[in-house]
Amino acid sequence: MSKIAIMGAMPEEIEPIISKLDNIQTMTYADNTYYEGSYNGQMVVVAYSKIGKVFATLTATMLIEKFGCDKLLFSGVAGAISKELKIGDLIIADGLCQHDLDITAFGHPYGYVPEGEVCISTDVNLRNIAKDIASLKGLTLKEGIIATGDQFIANSERKDWIGSEFKADALEMEGASVAVVCSTLNVPFFILRAISDSADMDAGFNFDEFLESSAQVSADFILSMVDAMRSKK
Ligand code: ADE
Repeated sequence: MSKIAIMGAMPEEIEPIISKLDNIQTMTYADNTYYEGSYNGQMVVVAYSKIGKVFATLTATMLIEKFGCDKLLFSGVAGAISKELKIGDLIIADGLCQHDLDITAFGHPYGYVPEGEVCISTDVNLRNIAKDIASLKGLTLKEGIIATGDQFIANSERKDWIGSEFKADALEMEGASVAVVCSTLNVPFFILRAISDSADMDAGFNFDEFLESSAQVSADFILSMVDAMRSKK
């Protein structure tokens, strides 16, 4: 049976998922806790990585290489770049880039290193499942580029630069790491985020205020995806 990895960055992002699992077994590995269990009969392994690209890379790799997951779904919150996105709105990534990756001194574009890609695409089948669920539930689901970096953005100028340089609609701190790991290991992956703030001067305050409620919106949607993925087989 297929085993689905569900990953977040922070405890708040995965708690609403763990609370719905049956037969949970907890394992600690490389300083992370992994929750292996089932959701309506589907085997899943759930973990939060801790914030940022390095921790996210480690956890995504472990979920695939140590726990044998063959698909990865990421659930969490993001800062909005697009003015269409309000707090609590959902966005799925069609592609992910690293806004803080910079070897432009050598004539390369922002976000690019040799043998890498500026923008890594997510799995089309998983995106289509998400779109079907959204239309069934009457939810608005934006699809766009998500920019990742090891910076909490609380500055409109920096946000606008990321938006124009990468054509990004939202930003966060882990998605592109998961994209690098999964695309390199040929594991289909999906990145969902609910908006917690607008990456402007109020971002810190809004993030604290809306982290839990937006994380819940994202987690609920991810669980519907697990149901749909199970019944597709
Ligand atoms: N995740 C949620 N909001 C964010 C922001 N403003 N910057 C970086 N990551 C985020």
